[in-house]
Formats: sequence, C-alpha cells, structure tokens
Amino acid sequence: MCGIVAALSRRNIVPILIEGLKRLEYRGYDSAGIAVLNGRLQRLRSTGRVVELEKIAVGLSAPVGIAHTRWATHGVPSERNAHPHVSGGVSVVHNGIIENHDAMRENLRGKGYEFASDTDTEVIAHLVHEHLRHGATLFGAVRKATDELQGAYAIAVIHESDPELIVVARHGAPLLLGLGAGENFAASDASALIQVTQRIIYLEDGDCAELSQSSVKIVDASGRPVERQIHISQLSAASVELGQYKSFMQKEIFEQPMAVANTLEMVTSANFVVPELFGARAAQIFRETDAVLILACGTSYHAGMVARYWLEALAGLPCNVEIASEYRYRESVPNPRCLVIAISQSGETADTLAALNFAKARGQENSLAICNVPESALIRGSELRFLTRAGPEIGVASTKAFTTQLASLILLAMVLAKLRGRLGKQRESEMLNSLRHLPAALTRVLGTESQIIKWAEYVAPHRHALFLGRGVHWPIAMEGALKLKEISYIHAEAYAAGELKHGPLALVDQDMPVFAIAPNDELLEKLKSNLQEVSARGGKLFVLADQHVKFSDGSGVEVIRMPDHAGMLSPILHTIPLQMLAYHAAILRGNDVDKPRNLAKSVTVE
Ligand code: G6P
Repeated sequence: MCGIVAALSRRNIVPILIEGLKRLEYRGYDSAGIAVLNGRLQRLRSTGRVVELEKIAVGLSAPVGIAHTRWATHGVPSERNAHPHVSGGVSVVHNGIIENHDAMRENLRGKGYEFASDTDTEVIAHLVHEHLRHGATLFGAVRKATDELQGAYAIAVIHESDPELIVVARHGAPLLLGLGAGENFAASDASALIQVTQRIIYLEDGDCAELSQSSVKIVDASGRPVERQIHISQLSAASVELGQYKSFMQKEIFEQPMAVANTLEMVTSANFVVPELFGARAAQIFRETDAVLILACGTSYHAGMVARYWLEALAGLPCNVEIASEYRYRESVPNPRCLVIAISQSGETADTLAALNFAKARGQENSLAICNVPESALIRGSELRFLTRAGPEIGVASTKAFTTQLASLILLAMVLAKLRGRLGKQRESEMLNSLRHLPAALTRVLGTESQIIKWAEYVAPHRHALFLGRGVHWPIAMEGALKLKEISYIHAEAYAAGELKHGPLALVDQDMPVFAIAPNDELLEKLKSNLQEVSARGGKLFVLADQHVKFSDGSGVEVIRMPDHAGMLSPILHTIPLQMLAYHAAILRGNDVDKPRNLAKSVTVE
C-alpha cells in the first residue's frame, strides 16, 4: 500500500532510493517517483514500475532524497498523481489516506494554493509549506501539519532551504528509520534498507523524527523527545532476492517445506505442546477462554476458516471467523471470555488492526496475533502472539504465509484441546509426529508440478472455473479460487460441494472446468455424489485425490494423486497443487505473477 524510502548521506543516494523502491514494489506499483536536493529540488516521476523511473533517473545524483512507489487510492495512476508531491521548495511522499483532505483542500485553496494532482497527499505538501511560510522550522512545520491530518499516514518530507534534513512522521502506517555511519535512512520496511544498514528503529504511532547525516531526533505524539530501541534486522539479502527462481511467487511456493519446518521448530523436537508457545500469559488466558473469534482478510481469512474446523473438532471451542472489514462495522454480541485471534501475514492490514481494536473496545480484551512480521503493529497491539517464520513474502499472492499460518493454527488447536482435557497423550504424540513429517510431505506434493502444469494448460484459455471442497477443505477450495483470480485473472468461485445443486450447478457445462479437493476423509462419498452431478452435466472434472481412492481418469475426469494422506493436516498439503495451478495458469497467460494488476500486498488503507 505504497512504499516510501528516504536517504541522507555524503554519497549519492539515488541508487539507494531506487534499490529501496524495487524492494518495496510489493506494496504498490502504479507509479514511482523521486525527489532529491542537490542545490535545488529536482523531481522525477513515471507511471508503471520502478524500472521506468530508474531509466529516467540515469545521471541524477544527490546526497538527500525521498522516493515512493504508489498503489493508487485518490486519483488514477498517472504521472501527475505520482509522488513526491511538491509545494514551493517542499516535497512529500506519503503512504496512507488523509480522510479530511477535502476540507483541507478548500481551506488551502482559500489561501491561494493551487493543486496539481487529485491526491490527498498534496494537501500535506501545501500545509507544510504554509507553516514554513509562517516561520516554523521544517520539523515544526511537519509537526503542525500532522496535527491537522486525520486518517493514516507515513510521510517523509524535504525542503530546498534545509538541504541537511529529512523529516518523517507516522500514524497508522508503518515507518522505520535505518541508522548508518554518517548517513541515515527511513523506509516502509526493513527490506528497503537491507543494502545499507541492519540497524533499525521502528517508529511508534504519533512519532515524528528529524534525520541529519549524523543524528536522529524523535518526539512522540505529545511532542516529548523519546529514545526508541535500536533493533538489528535479521533479514538477509538472499531472503529478499530471487536466486534461481523466475518469480518470488515460485520461490515462495517452493520454500514452503522450509517455512513450515521453521515455524514448527519449537515443537518438532518436543514431546508435548505448551501454551507458552503463544506468550507468557497464554496459559491463564486460554483457561479463561470459552469461545474464539478470528478476524482476518484475504488469504489469512481462509486460514481462519480452516482453523474453525480444527478448533471446534479438537478443542471443542465455538469459533466465529469474520472478514475484518465487515466485523468492525457490525453490531455483534461481544463475549468477554472470547479469545480474539487476528491473523495477518503483514501485521499492517488496516481492516484487521481496526477490527481487533473494535473487538477489544467491546470488552473482548484477550487477543492473539498470528503474524509473519515481528515489530508489526499487529504484534505490538496483541496480548499473545505467534510468529510464523515464513521469512519475507514478496509475491502479492500469499503462499508460504498461508501454510505457515495453518501450521500455527493447528498447534493452537492442540494447545487449547490439551488444556480442555480433549487431547490425550497418545493423540498428542501422534499429531506431533505428523507435524514432524509435514515438511517432507510438502516436498513430495511439490513433486506433482508436472501433472499440475497440464491442468494449468487446460484452464489457462478459459474465462471461468469452479473449485469444490467439503468440510475443512472447503476453505482450501476458496483459497484455490482466490489464487487463480488474483494472478491469472480467470474468474473463479469456490463452493462447498453440497451447495452446488442449490445454484452454481446451473453454470456447469463443457466450458466450465471444475476442480475438486477429494481427500480420503469421512466426507469423500458425499463429495463423490456431488461430482457425479458435475459429470452428468458435461462438466470437465479435475480431482485431487488420495492414493488408493477409487476415482477413474478418463471420460471428463482427470485425477492427480496426492502422495500422502496427512489426516488433520490434509488441508495444508492440498493447498500446494492449487497454488501451482494458479501460478502456471498465470505464467501461460503472460501475467506478472508477483505483481498482479490492481492489487497490493500490504493493504494499509480501509
Ligand atoms: C492483501 C493481499 C492478500 C492478503 C491480504 C491480507 O489483499 O494481496 O494476499 O491475503 O491483503 O493481508 P495480511 O497481511 O493481513 O495477511
């Protein structure tokens, strides 16, 4: 949801800004821009990807600058709406949404300011300019301007007359500082600075900071000077580079055995699970828990849907799963003994954060974050936490974050079941054993790729597809459909197979490929009957079946055999072929799988 990077050094910072923007492109890629100070303010902007900006920035050199890659909210993706925005000698990059921008625009127009873009951001540039005109320092002008802003922002500001300074501020959107030797930086996330420093300060909401080459001054929301802790980023360059892979999505699909193994590291050599896996107060909170509410968006929501089956069946806890953007505006009935679980890869999704706060404000104070990013707003705002250890996920379509979320959620179900006396020693040890074998099983499923490519070749020219599953595999069908939509742009819908006859069956004909997840579980025979309904209408069926289950290839049915049946963990395994299906269909259609049109990875606006 827009990426920003800022740098101030003795050396030329243009290559640092461009490299930083490339690493932030997952946050948005509608347009990119850079503004530097080298005696005067110089700005370059282009629509499309950062490489386009890089082409026009050849020869640009400066010791101070700010840069931006955009995911359009206010104003179409165009050069005039691309950041940085300027007002006189002031230049601003912004991530977030300014909610009161209309009123401010009117006000500033009244003072003679003209607007060159349709963005909400431009009001910030004019506001800062206005305060400078009245004698404020750059730092003071930014503080005053942010006092007037409503909404979410992370901003970086430079001014022609203060070529030694960059001022940054954040409220509701991520921003961190990077500390170098005789140079300092700011960025939306640590990956943007991996090439220059590992020493990171995460700004808190309301913080405003002034950076010079040799110093960093931070004040909090009330204007008090504060010291924020310096963290040493553990990110390695290799973790955010492609290596042997063609795309990040491909890399991330193939990283899943390792990502899941890392996530489960704390239990794979143990003989039992303990509540403390989820935080120091987990045992006490879990004992008080009599229901679970899961809040999430997108793929993380699908992880929550799977978890409901596990939490109810294993732990015997009633569980609601809510789309965060819906829950936050609904008059639901709060239960103070409910554990609120927020699931998010990024930990910055605005809807999920707001839904969690809404749940807490209604007296549901026990919260658990399942998240892939340490130091994210979600982790900081939750009582209990479990960090998935997927490593940086850069492809916009979530893959390894999802399977690691599932791995964490099955652990949670086990812990809660054990506390509630529903997980005997033998079952616990069997489940731990299955978890130990999960990475190897995932590797074997990746081996089905050549068969999946054939399915992808079939679906790629089609305009629609259906995905069917039952029980805990219904959300996996939903995730398969979402993956196909996101990156191949083929319209795909998922249904609980039993619902087919209640409407969607009308869509089935020879032009509608139907993908079915058919593990050998208690619902298999029911599912087979549903699939008969498809075959009888001339639909072409693609079935993911377990070994030794009677499903015959031919006459409109194609079967891929899953190498293992993993019992309760089966949804984790079945996700992989569907990810590969979407990936190959998108590649065959010539799409950019890492940066699908109109989307962004980290959605920090409502
Ligand atoms: C965006 C991404 C999705 C992701 C969703 C939730 O829409 O494109 O891939 O599932 O946000 O993100 P989160 O970081 O909260 O899991």
